[in-house]
Amino acid sequence: MALFSRENFPYLPFTINAMNAPRNVAVIVGSLRKDSFSRKMAHALAAVAPASLRLQIVEIGPLPLYNQDLDGADPPAAWVSFRERIRASDAVLFVTPEYNRSVPAALKNALDVGSRPYGKSAWNGKPGAVVGVSQGALGAFGANHHLRQSLVFLNVPTLQQPEAYIGGAAGLFDANGTLSNESTRDFLRKFMEAFAAWIEVNQRR
Ligand code: FNR
Repeated sequence: MALFSRENFPYLPFTINAMNAPRNVAVIVGSLRKDSFSRKMAHALAAVAPASLRLQIVEIGPLPLYNQDLDGADPPAAWVSFRERIRASDAVLFVTPEYNRSVPAALKNALDVGSRPYGKSAWNGKPGAVVGVSQGALGAFGANHHLRQSLVFLNVPTLQQPEAYIGGAAGLFDANGTLSNESTRDFLRKFMEAFAAWIEVNQRR
């Protein structure tokens, strides 16, 4: 069965040509931790993504804390290159843990950096999706929905279904950090297929 068949995505207004150039998806990982489960999950998502998508992690660790005083004629180089990477992408995928029922500060900082200068937000109009990852059972639900609040304001049309709250993350990967849970892999594949369709429907032309 074709990936983007009308049977799979009956709400699509048109048939997607899977031969089109791949869409570049900037992947933002909310954790800076070396052994982060969110980072492992980002790699697992890239591994099952349809061929129509090219996923690349855009690092947020090097971004200095946003300070409007620095955002003049010569802003920090890390901000400039981050904004350029987001602007050059066709879509954004957020893979994040939950910190105190919200997103980690590093992720919020990246949202803020990308949103400025005023009127030139790099996020504007980019189709997006959110995957919450936690070791507990709630799958970073709070972070996922706090993030969505910002994405509304940033005009990132964000995939609604399926929602992705991945709990029990510590038990999903093998010693090499590769996803070893088959049902999670199936879910991630369906999620990325839905995201690919979402990107086509919401792509700015
Ligand atoms: C956490 N953790 C956590 N977990 C959760 O489910 N809800 C929460 O509100 C929080 N709060 C929180 C705050 C802070 C400061 C830390 C350091 C951790 C646990 C956290 O989700 C867990 O450590 C994840 O494994 C972190 O994600 P990475 O680094 O594995 O991607």
